[in-house]
Parts: sequence; C-alpha cells; structure tokens
Amino acid sequence: MANPSLLILPGDGIGPEVMAQVRRVIDWFGANRDLAFDVSEDLVGGAAYDKHGTPLHDDTMARAQEVDAVLLGAVGGPKYDDLDFSVKPERGLLRLRKEMDLFSNLRPAQCFDALADFSSLKKDVVAGLDIMIVRELTSGVYFGEPRGIHKEGNERVGINTQRYTESEIARVARSAFELARKRSNKVCSMEKANVMESGILWRQVVQEIHDAEYPDVELSHMYADNGAMQLVRAPKQFDVIVTDNLFGDVLSDCAAMLTGSLGMLPSASLGLPMANGRPKALYEPVHGSAPDITGQGKANPIACILSFAMALRYSFDEGENADLLEGAVQKVLADGVRTADLMGPEGGSPVSTTEMGDAILAALDAA
Ligand code: NAD
Ligand code: IPM
Ligand code: MN
Repeated sequence: MANPSLLILPGDGIGPEVMAQVRRVIDWFGANRDLAFDVSEDLVGGAAYDKHGTPLHDDTMARAQEVDAVLLGAVGGPKYDDLDFSVKPERGLLRLRKEMDLFSNLRPAQCFDALADFSSLKKDVVAGLDIMIVRELTSGVYFGEPRGIHKEGNERVGINTQRYTESEIARVARSAFELARKRSNKVCSMEKANVMESGILWRQVVQEIHDAEYPDVELSHMYADNGAMQLVRAPKQFDVIVTDNLFGDVLSDCAAMLTGSLGMLPSASLGLPMANGRPKALYEPVHGSAPDITGQGKANPIACILSFAMALRYSFDEGENADLLEGAVQKVLADGVRTADLMGPEGGSPVSTTEMGDAILAALDAA
C-alpha cells in the first residue's frame, strides 16, 4: 500500500523555523517506527503571495484536497499588513479551512507538570489541567455576509455578520459530544445567548442534539464572557468546551497561557470523512508567525511538533506513536530543556529552536 500523504505548508515568519523541526520528527518515525509518509511541501500566506501574487495558489488548494493530511506552520507578518484584504496571508489559511470544510477545530490545552510552576497563574490552578476547546471554524462572523467597508453619507462603516445555521451548530456540537465521551464526558457550550440571536439558536441546537443523541454526556451552558473569566479563575472545572469561531479564537489564546506559553498549543482542524475513511484534516499550532522573534532561533517548535502528534492520532490512527511523541516532549520539559518563551522571571539559559528539536529526537531515541 502507498504511504499516507502529507502536504507541508510552512508559511511565514517562524512557520518555516518550527516546521523544520517537525520534518526531522517525521523522518525519525519513518526511520525508526516503520511509519513513512509521502511528504510534499508548498507555499502559503505571504510566501505564496511573494511568488504568485495570491496567498494560496489554486494548485496548492487542489493538492490540499487530495492529501491525507495538511500540516501548516503560520502565516502573516508586518510586511503584508498593508496588502489589499483579499490577498492578505490570513486569507490563504481561511480559504483552506473553508474549502476543505474543516468545521471542527480541536485546541487542547494541557499543562505539563514541568511547566506548572511557570504559568502566569498559581500552580494549583493549572497543575494537571487537560481541557479541549472545540472551535467552530468555517462559519460565524469570520465568513458571514454581508461584510465589507463602505461609505454611508460622510462616514465609513465596517460590517461583519455573525450567522449560524442549525446544521452548522449541530455538526460541531456532535463532534464535541463524541470527544467528551472519550474523555471525562462533560461539555460546556459557550455563547452570548443574552445578547445575540445566533447565541440563542446555538444554545437551543446544542441542547437538542444533546437530549436526542448524547443524554449520557453532562452538558452545561455559559456566556462566553463568564467563560473567559472562569478559564483563568478555575480552568480545571472544564473538560470539553464547544464554542463559535470568534469566541473560540479568543478563548483558545487565553487557554494557551494556562499551559505556560502560546508556543505549546497544537490544533487539529477536522472535516468530513474522505473516501478512505480519514477525515479531511489540517494540523497547525495555535500561535502565529511571531514576527518579533523571527530569524533569531528563539521559536518554540513544540506546538507544531504536538500538532503532528495530533495528526498521528486523528488522521492515521497511530495513537501509540502519538503517545510516544507526546511522551518525548514531556520528558524533555521534565529535564528542564526550555526555549526562551518557557523561561520564568528568574531567567536561565534557553535553548534554540534546533536544540529543542535535538532534545526531542534524543528523547525519542531513548524511549
Ligand atoms: P503570534 O502568535 O504570532 O505572537 C504572539 C506572541 O507570542 C509574540 O510575542 C510571539 O513572539 C509569541 N510566540 C508565538 N509563537 C511562539 C513560539 N512558537 N515560540 C515562542 N514565542 C511565540 O500573534 P500576533 O503577534 O498577534 O500575530 C503575528 C502574525 O501572525 C499576524 O500576521 C497574525 O495574523 C498571524 N497569525 C497567524 C496565525 C496562523 O497562522 N494560524 C495565528 C495567529 C496569528
Ligand atoms: C488562529 C489565527 C487565525 C484565526 C488567523 C490567522 C486567520 O488567529 O488560527 O487562531 O483568527 O482563526
Ligand atoms: Mn488566533
């Protein structure tokens, strides 16, 4: 049988820096675990704009639809800030998500023991934390019409529309309930049903899907602003959080700091099953292109490496190999190996992006 195929899109800024370490990890699994991938690489974001005048070439989009999984680094950067909205790097990523119909974005926030002391929150608030944010990814205010900037009289008006259909809410709710059944069987749904009609519908549909199909799962509802507060007050009260596209974006960055650094958080964006039974899938770190540290060897590659671990688990049914990789990351952190973002106020001597890759490969060798 042919090897499973991976399309790698390193993107911009620290994207290529962290992806270089993922390439080494992929090669390690090919050489040591009889798990070879057919890997191809292409451009996305500003890098694609520089070459093709578009942040995602049609050929790249077509390739993304064909492969078993896509791995993406990050897109964007100050160089592209003044580009026309339609060709901004971020549009390339949004097109991938929309056209691949990746409606369920899993953003796990786990606090590794070795980093519990390092979070900006007290150790007992975050130690042992293991939550999963399920963010709706292909609808809501990111994609709703009408949108745009136009003139009304003498004034400019900026418009975006929050819009959700019942079926869009139902499918992401199902994905959250399914995940909860494999975890602690608890879902908290977050919206603003107190001020938004789309929030009222969200709450109704989540409740209906629960009552009809998942009555065994414990379901609660929370306004998203309270949810943000609860996430920093007592994050361990949550297991799975399901929420819309924009709230999910904000809440997952917030959850990132519970784990110690944005450089730690991986994600999986999943769609419908393909003909081979695997879901359409794109894996990427939650962080962006980090222009402030690009080119300095400071980027933490762990979020991107853990995104590959999620690919092993969710696309390739390689749970044991995913555990192996996550275990290697844990070991390295327990040994005190730290990139600069993981340094506490007392400081210390951080390792570079490549040295973090070296340490993870050594831990894999030793496992
Ligand atoms: P960012 O996530 O790039 O950076 C926020 C802060 O976190 C910075 O101080 C950065 O140095 C730090 N950081 C992020 N990742 C890190 C890592 N792996 N290791 C160490 N430190 C890390 O967010 P931003 O500065 O708001 O955005 C920069 C650009 O990235 C923008 O163009 C934005 O649109 C884009 N962006 C892209 C994605 C994506 O590709 N998925 C996600 C978020 C932001
Ligand atoms: C993320 C990013 C993206 C988003 C941007 C870069 C389009 O912030 O993946 O969290 O807003 O979804
Ligand atoms: Mn974001």
